[in-house]
Amino acid sequence: MTDAPLGLYVHWPYCARICPYCDFNVYKARGDDEALFQSLVADLGYWAERLERRSLVSIHFGGGTPSLMTPAQIGELIGKAELMFGFAPLIEIGLEANPNDSDGFEGFRAAGINRLSLGVQSFQDDALVALGRDHDGAAAHRSHELARKNFDAVSLDLIYAREGQTLADWEAELTAILSEQPGHVSAYQLTIEPGTAFDRRVARGELIPPGDSLGAELYTLTQTLCADAGMTGYEISNHCREGQSSRHNRLYWEGADWIGIGPGAHGRMGNFRSGGRVASTTVLKPAAYIEQVTRTGCGSDIETLSALDEARERILMGLRISDGLDIDRITALTGHSIDLEEAGRLERQGLIGIDDRIVRLTPDGRLYADGIAQLLCP
Ligand SMILES: C[S@@+](CC[C@H](N)C(=O)[O-])C[C@H]1O[C@@H](n2cnc3c(N)ncnc32)[C@H](O)[C@@H]1O
Ligand code: SF4
Repeated sequence: MTDAPLGLYVHWPYCARICPYCDFNVYKARGDDEALFQSLVADLGYWAERLERRSLVSIHFGGGTPSLMTPAQIGELIGKAELMFGFAPLIEIGLEANPNDSDGFEGFRAAGINRLSLGVQSFQDDALVALGRDHDGAAAHRSHELARKNFDAVSLDLIYAREGQTLADWEAELTAILSEQPGHVSAYQLTIEPGTAFDRRVARGELIPPGDSLGAELYTLTQTLCADAGMTGYEISNHCREGQSSRHNRLYWEGADWIGIGPGAHGRMGNFRSGGRVASTTVLKPAAYIEQVTRTGCGSDIETLSALDEARERILMGLRISDGLDIDRITALTGHSIDLEEAGRLERQGLIGIDDRIVRLTPDGRLYADGIAQLLCP
């Protein structure tokens, strides 16, 4: 038995339309897929038995578009999770929502959702058309208003570094958004993911995203504008007002435990019998996930991570947050440390700071987080 924090991630893989930049595990369908829903409930039951009674500090409905689930399904899953695990005080229960689903917000709140991540991406019609979104600026504004009315905590997902976007454009756009005083903003630089429609357009020369140097300037501008608006950049892409950071996402970055259910979901947790850490992975296709849960009672394949893989993952994730990476904790948990010689070099280059055995990326270092993590890995 342990009282270490435990979260639950629920992946709902359906979307009304597939966006041309997205490489998440998504399938085009509207609808509430009752068979998939029942498999989620059964899979949750598997984990409840395996983990005995550990209370949940957070639940996150991600996707895909979980705002396509019905409020009744969301409420039922939350109710079952409470019965099976119990809830820690002030549990965060978050849902990723598309602006077109704002009619459901009241129902989602009544079902138990207390934090909404709203995928507005932009409030500008032309940007939304370029991103291939199925909502417009008016829907983005309306849904933001409704979200604020219904939920204690609201986060806005934004995408910048879009084709043709200048520093002045983004400054004006983000300044207008920040003037509405959002509590939390996730601002993502557009990534051209392999295999997406945007990737094919780039290959054909039909889409020219900003180059690395403009991308870096746009990133730095984002940090400055958010900080000037009183928001802390507590993670590379995430900014919040005091006390409004995402409790669930912190579990990932801090290397805590979470269960993952639904097609393509990942989970991580301590192996309390033999030590170390286990990784759970579910199959990607909804039909295959349903079939596996029906046949075995569990949607996941579970493997024990090697101590080295665990250390590498902890370094990669821990570097992302402004709290930084505790070198001694990594060693205590895995027996490995960071490459201290490399760390010294990176510190002299101004890319990281090391203070009291905590490694933090500097503002310049934040631009190269993944590369730095690789250099620091044992
Ligand atoms: C998994 S999506 C789900 C949210 C919801 N379905 C939506 O699109 O509004 C979470 C967020 O990832 C971001 N995202 C997805 N693909 C991206 C890409 N290629 N580049 C930058 N951000 C991306 C978007 O901001 C999106 O809101
Ligand atoms: S960005 Fe959101 S709505 Fe678009 S395909 Fe990806 S998960 Fe679905």
